[in-house]
Amino acid sequence: MRKDVKIDTKKMEKEIEKTVRKLTLDEKLAMIHGATLFQSGAVERLGIPAIITSDGPMGVRAEFMSDRWIPAGNNDDMVSYLPSNSALASTWNPKLAHDMGHVLGAEARGRGKDVILAPGINIKRDPKCGRNFEYMSEDPKLAATLAVPFIQGVQENDVAACVKHFAANCQETDRLMVDEEIDDRTLYEIYLPAFKAAVQEGGAYSIMGAYNKINGYHCCENKMLLDGILRMEWGFDGAVISDWGGVHKTKEAAECSMDLEMSVFPDFDDYKLANPLKELVEKGEVSEDRIDAKVRNLLRMMYRLKMIGKHKDSRQSGAYNVPEHREAILKTAEESIILLKNENKTLPLDAKKIKKLVVIGQNAAKVHSDGGGSAEIKSLYEICPLMGLKMYLGGNVQVEYVKGYYVPEKPKTFEQNWQATSLDDLKDTNVGQAVRDEAHEHENHRKGEEERLAKLEKEKVEIHEKNRQLFAQAVEAAKDADAVIFVGGLNHDFDSEGFDRSDMKLPYEQDLLIEELLKVRKDAIITFVGGSPVEMPWRDKAQAILWSYYAGMETGNAFAKVIFGEVNPSGKLAETFPARYEDCATGKNGQFGKWGAIKLEEGLYYGYRHFDRQRITPAFCFGHGLSYTTFEYGNFTLKAEKGKNVKLSFTVKNTGKKAGAEIAQVYIAPISPSVDRPVKELKAYAKVELAAGKSKKVSLTLTQQDFAYFDEHLHDFISDAGDYEILIGASCEDIRLKGIATLA
Ligand code: BGC
Repeated sequence: MRKDVKIDTKKMEKEIEKTVRKLTLDEKLAMIHGATLFQSGAVERLGIPAIITSDGPMGVRAEFMSDRWIPAGNNDDMVSYLPSNSALASTWNPKLAHDMGHVLGAEARGRGKDVILAPGINIKRDPKCGRNFEYMSEDPKLAATLAVPFIQGVQENDVAACVKHFAANCQETDRLMVDEEIDDRTLYEIYLPAFKAAVQEGGAYSIMGAYNKINGYHCCENKMLLDGILRMEWGFDGAVISDWGGVHKTKEAAECSMDLEMSVFPDFDDYKLANPLKELVEKGEVSEDRIDAKVRNLLRMMYRLKMIGKHKDSRQSGAYNVPEHREAILKTAEESIILLKNENKTLPLDAKKIKKLVVIGQNAAKVHSDGGGSAEIKSLYEICPLMGLKMYLGGNVQVEYVKGYYVPEKPKTFEQNWQATSLDDLKDTNVGQAVRDEAHEHENHRKGEEERLAKLEKEKVEIHEKNRQLFAQAVEAAKDADAVIFVGGLNHDFDSEGFDRSDMKLPYEQDLLIEELLKVRKDAIITFVGGSPVEMPWRDKAQAILWSYYAGMETGNAFAKVIFGEVNPSGKLAETFPARYEDCATGKNGQFGKWGAIKLEEGLYYGYRHFDRQRITPAFCFGHGLSYTTFEYGNFTLKAEKGKNVKLSFTVKNTGKKAGAEIAQVYIAPISPSVDRPVKELKAYAKVELAAGKSKKVSLTLTQQDFAYFDEHLHDFISDAGDYEILIGASCEDIRLKGIATLA
């Protein structure tokens, strides 16, 4: 049972100060860099333990050997596999975000961890970013409002959330070196708000510096970011941990708020904040005070986690693989599934009317938990959609599964983890050098990427040859079934750390297969499991389209319950699904996935902010998601108080025959702004659960900050007086209610 202890800040600071004074230089240095791949150095003499970290966002990662990226091969490190952040965000449910944070924190503590390297809250700037599946949304407000309860949920287990990757880590191509040119307004309005909320509202104990550069400086040694914004403007007093291998220059990292350097190679003494820093201190080039500041930040986090200090005995012990975790995961998975299209009430299927079900597509039978990069999980189990369907229907229904398309086999090698090889080139250039050879690093990376792409091209030929027969088999099987479900999408060969997707198309010629299937079965239910948007050129021909992100160990159960109507889908898109990649802001300006440097030319206008402005209709817009019931909005009132908040209320009524939940979204649209502003921006939302025929009143408050934009000259947010349209919508395009708020 949790014993709530209130930490006396004054006493804590005093104790920390006393400890800092007792530590020798070597001991302090040991504390501020990795002593194993996932732990900092301990100081046994003073009872200061190592800080034990672990990935990651979808569950607690399996154990590695301490100095090599080789799985330890244990049988006691299987865990609950949580829905990815992209799935979680589709629920638009802060309560579930809290529950998932709580599960992750409890499992991390149960596995003896101090810091869990999650949540990933980077803004989805481009749909091709390889790690989008790990992130929440394209919208800062949605990401912020889910990150906060998630972090609180983690940390109530006496485990620190390490919120990552600070900041603007929005592409994987050249991720270690890419320099992102971002103007201040874009940074403050788009890429920083979720991190600010994580720190100020979520109370995150730690934050991870990103790999990329912002305006010429690597995030892990970026004074503007770490000192100016994070510490001074936001008042963060927790620990900054580098991404693994994210520190490049000793003096710069020493002299800014980078507290703990972690990396990927085993020569721990050569880490920048180890011997190289010691040399600089001894030569008088870096003051020891800089190291003290880092140690203080780490000790503060340890104190809060009850790793040290007088509350040590009341630290929670956590638990992993407990049934309650699986229940919470199932509930989240259920709410994360998004019904994109449903003509003629094709869904839900009536299980009683089905004697033969044909399931087509490799994602029906695939498990995904063991891939994706550092988010990989050794899941206790993972129920794939096919198993979910079979478990739901039982033995009296014939479920025929055909692969439908060919996926080249990728034997998993367990000797060497990808993480070692993907960052291998760091090794050549890092050891002991003050400045790394960037040209060399680029070349190494580029070579790897070229090889990967060449392999993909070769595979395409093989896929094409093998698909002829598989397509014919699938089409044949579909003809005489009572119902046909296609389960395709992506997998972690595409949604992955370390590289971006080369296009937004479905791999393995799935588009061709879907076209062929729809010719013989108009009612084929087209479903996907994936981590990022795909083009769906055939979408007008399909009657029902369902999307699931990687939704955790219970994916298959949630999937079956939605297909057969036991669960009424209530997920909505937390990102735009463009019709074609070229329609995106980055698809137009070409400033994504480049090597060396990118310029965020589109500024605020990416995602729905771009589609709105350019009046481009996406395939499925931000905030879109259908239900098996219908909702009506009404009784809109709003009241703007002078210099104060704007209070809104409206009702949502379930006008159909099934219980369901609606996500009502509040956008503000400035009518005559003094500066260029997005047509509309999400500022609030509410998820309303309603029995058939029932209605509920929703009351929400918009603050002055919700109306504000960032003024670069004042370096502050300001809100213009004047009229703002307040739009209440079922999605960003389906606006149901409008009103005007006048700000004095
Ligand atoms: C990733 C981080 C991860 C770290 C440790 C890095 O490659 O970018 O997200 O937490 O490795 O595995």
